[in-house]
Amino acid sequence: MTSASDDWKRGVVYQIYPRSFQDSNGDGIGDLPGITSRLDYLQQLGVDLVWLSPVYASPQDDNGYDISDYRAIAPEFGTMADFEQMLAAMHARGIRLMMDLVVNHSSDEHEWFRQARSSRDNPYHDYYLWAEPKADGSPPNNWEAAFQGSVWEWNQATGEYYLHMFSRKQPDLNWENPRLRAEVYALMRFWLDKGVDGFRMDVINMISKPWAADGSLPDAPLVREGFLQPSFGMTCNGPRLLEFLREMRREVLDHYDTITVGEAPLATVQQGRDITHPETGALDMLFQFEHMDLDSVGGHVMGKWAARPLDLRELKRTMGRWQDELHGRGWNSLYLSNHDQPRPVSRFGDDGRYRVESAKMLATWLHGMQGTPYIYQGEELGMSNVAFERIEDYRDIESLNFHRVATTERGWTPEQALAAIHTKGRDNARTPMPWDGSDQAGFSSGRPWIALHPNAPEVNAAQALADPNSVFHYYRALIALRKQLPVLVAGRHELLLPGHEQLYAYLRCLDQQRLLVLCNFGAGELAVELPPEVATCQAERLIGNYPEAQPLALEGLRLRPYEALMCWLH
Ligand code: GLC
Ligand code: CA
Repeated sequence: MTSASDDWKRGVVYQIYPRSFQDSNGDGIGDLPGITSRLDYLQQLGVDLVWLSPVYASPQDDNGYDISDYRAIAPEFGTMADFEQMLAAMHARGIRLMMDLVVNHSSDEHEWFRQARSSRDNPYHDYYLWAEPKADGSPPNNWEAAFQGSVWEWNQATGEYYLHMFSRKQPDLNWENPRLRAEVYALMRFWLDKGVDGFRMDVINMISKPWAADGSLPDAPLVREGFLQPSFGMTCNGPRLLEFLREMRREVLDHYDTITVGEAPLATVQQGRDITHPETGALDMLFQFEHMDLDSVGGHVMGKWAARPLDLRELKRTMGRWQDELHGRGWNSLYLSNHDQPRPVSRFGDDGRYRVESAKMLATWLHGMQGTPYIYQGEELGMSNVAFERIEDYRDIESLNFHRVATTERGWTPEQALAAIHTKGRDNARTPMPWDGSDQAGFSSGRPWIALHPNAPEVNAAQALADPNSVFHYYRALIALRKQLPVLVAGRHELLLPGHEQLYAYLRCLDQQRLLVLCNFGAGELAVELPPEVATCQAERLIGNYPEAQPLALEGLRLRPYEALMCWLH
C-alpha cells in the first residue's frame, strides 16, 4: 500500500529486543554494535526485515517504551553513529529496518511533558491529557492502568490529574491536538529520512480516546472477574482512530516506501480490514490479539494473569476468521511471540520432551498461513519460558507491579503470584539471547541485566547452527519456502475439521495448486481422518518435523506427537 511494491508480502520479519540481543561492551546490556555484529546470523536465517524494539533516549521505566527524546539514541544502546552503521550494515545485507514508534505516550521525562506539567498556560500543556479531580478529590474516572493502579496521576503544579494507560512515567499524548500530531509526523520523517524502512507502532489503536460531549472520559464498566479493570476496552479503537491514521498516511507514509504494522489490542477483524485496506486504510498490517487472549480467563490484560488451557477449536475460529476476512482486502501479520508474550513452546507446545518437535510444529502452523510471519529473537532456537525462583530475579515493571499488588492488596500468596509470572510474565521472552555454550552464552562478557535461561548451555545458536535438524534450520527452510511458493503468499486459506480438538488442518489454494498443512497440537499419536475430497488425493511432502515416512498416504495417516506436515495435494 504505502510500499512501492508488494515485495514485503513474501518477507519474514525478525524482532530484536535490543537489551537482550548482544552486548558489545561488557556492561551486561545488549546494544547497537552488538546487533551489527550479529547480522550474518540473521542473513543466514533468511529474514528480510528487522523490527527493532525502542532504542531511543529513555529512563527505561518500561525498557524503552517510555521515550524521553524521539530523535536520540539511549547511551546504553550506543550512539547515532552506531545506529547509522547498523542500518547501513542491514541494508548491505538486503535487510530492511522497522523502528518502534511509541506515540500513544511519551516518557514523563520528555521535554514536552516537563513543560506541560509546569503550568496550565504552557504551550505544551495541551500535548497531554488532563482532568480535574472529582469533588472529593478522587481521580476523574475508574480506569485502571496496564501496570496496576489508577490511570490518573496527580500533578501538583497544575492541580490536575494526567492520564497514563501504562506506568505513571508514561503519560498519554493528546492526539486531539493538531500540533502534537504534526510533531509525531515530523519525528517519523526524521527517521525515514535517515533511511529506515518503516515502523511498528506501539498500541497505536489507543491514540483516540472516547471523549464525552462534556469533555470527560466516561467510567469503564466494572468487571471484577479477572484481575484488572478492562480499561483498555475504553481506549482501543476510539472514534477518531482511522481518521488520525489516514492523516498520518497522507502526511508521512505515502511520501516514502514504507512498511508498517500497528499493534492493536482488542482489534476486531472489521477494524483489521478497515485499517489495512490497501486503498482506504492506513497501515500495511496489524498485530491483532485475539489468538493471544484465548488462554486467559478474562481475555486481554484483565485476565492475563488468570491462565486457562487453550481450546484448539477457538484458535481455529479466531485464526480462520482473520485469514478469511482479510484475504484480498487487507493483510495479516502472523505471530506467536514477541517481547510481551511467553514463549510459544511453553505456552502452546511442550518445552520438555518435545521441545524441538513442538517448536517446529508451531512454526509450520504459523508460516503456512497467509500474512507476514514475525519471528521473535530466540523463537528460532525453540527457547522456552524461564522460572526464576525469586521475584528479585525479575525485571519487568508489569510483573513486579502485579506481584506487589496481587500479594499486598488482592490476597494472592507469593507462590501463586510467582506461578502466574512463570506462565505469563514478559521476562520469559527477555532472557538474553544464548549465542553459544560459554559462560554468559556469548551474550556479554559482564553480568547480564537479567539472568540467562538455565538451559543456555544446551539451547543456543552455535548448537543450532551445527545441528542440521535444529529448530533454526527448520525456520530457515520455512522462510525459503515462502520465497519460492506463491501459494504461501497469495493462496486462499481453507480450514478443515474445525471441530477437532487436537488436529489443526488447513489448505492454501491458488489456481490449481493446493497445499495441505497438518499439525498435531498434542503429545499423543493421532489417527487422521480427513474429509474424503482431501483424503483421496495424492500427497507430496514439502516439509515436516519428523523424518520422512515413506510413502506418504493421507488415508490411514497417523501423526506422531506434535508432528507437522506440509504437502502438495495432487
Ligand atoms: C506495547 C509494548 C509493551 C509496552 C506497552 C507500553 O504493548 O509492546 O512492551 O509495555 O506497549 O508502551
Ligand atoms: Ca552494552
